Amino acid sequence: MTVSARGIGRSKVILLGEHSVVYGQPALAAALGLGVRVRAEQAERPSLAVPAWGVEVGPGEADDLSRVFAALLAEAPPAVRSARLIVDPEVPSRAGLGSSAALAVAMIRALASLSGETLSDDEVERRAGLAETIFHGRASGIDAAVACRGGALRFVRGEPPRSVGCPLLPAVVAQVEPRSPTSEMVALVGRALEAEPDRIGAIFAEIGVLVDSAVSRLEAGDLTGLGGLMGHNHRLLRELGVSTEALDDGCHAALAAGAVGAKLTGAGGGGCLIALAPGCDEAVEAALSPRSLWVRRVLLGS
Ligand code: PMV
Repeated sequence: MTVSARGIGRSKVILLGEHSVVYGQPALAAALGLGVRVRAEQAERPSLAVPAWGVEVGPGEADDLSRVFAALLAEAPPAVRSARLIVDPEVPSRAGLGSSAALAVAMIRALASLSGETLSDDEVERRAGLAETIFHGRASGIDAAVACRGGALRFVRGEPPRSVGCPLLPAVVAQVEPRSPTSEMVALVGRALEAEPDRIGAIFAEIGVLVDSAVSRLEAGDLTGLGGLMGHNHRLLRELGVSTEALDDGCHAALAAGAVGAKLTGAGGGGCLIALAPGCDEAVEAALSPRSLWVRRVLLGS
């Protein structure tokens, strides 16, 4: 049997469609080109270490990470249920970049590779869904889909994701401030919908139309067109009440530095923005650096 094996899961950005995706509209998401790597080793007893976060747990503890570890070990063949997993995250956690789904996928793949088990993408995604339920309660599934499949995906809740053929997209992702929990932001939008069903429902429908235009622009390789649609989506997210001054300000700075489009990505209330920056990613990164807790040049869709 193999004594050491590796697995990787991809982190993601939502290019368009967060929040309205919860209500059945499509969303467009892309892998970030960064993710979480896991090394699995045969050991005497199971353990999970994340040196970068100063964390080490076993499967029997009460925290979410331990519970996820226990759930994924239970899905793995008995021969690897005492494995030691060492995690190397390339993205910050709790930033809206799908690090928890990327971690789950990397753990699942590392354990499968250690045991010699061959898993289909559907099975990896199913197991990652178990982990996401522990980490986040009822998630839409978009993070697990991208973490497992990579590329760019048109995603509708409850339907199989559709892969969108596109070039790699030069972009800059920046975390401009700590973010609010996704559940709080989803609840805030839910209250807005209850209070003003017609206005908020119309915004959701408008975002749905933008998403499908964006899929067409992406497939045609029209990044300027895509960028314009992202800006439109950001303004609608601001109307939903999920943007912040720091996110708006970061988007303006990215556009002033040459980005063809910029918007908040994920649940909002702080967190990350994504700026599409063909031919100007260094300038956009330089403009965002002083305003950011974390910033990276990335190739979306890889
Ligand atoms: O967890 P985040 O920040 O990637 O946001 C998820 C996107 C939402 O549409 C707000 C929620 C969901 O489950 O789709």
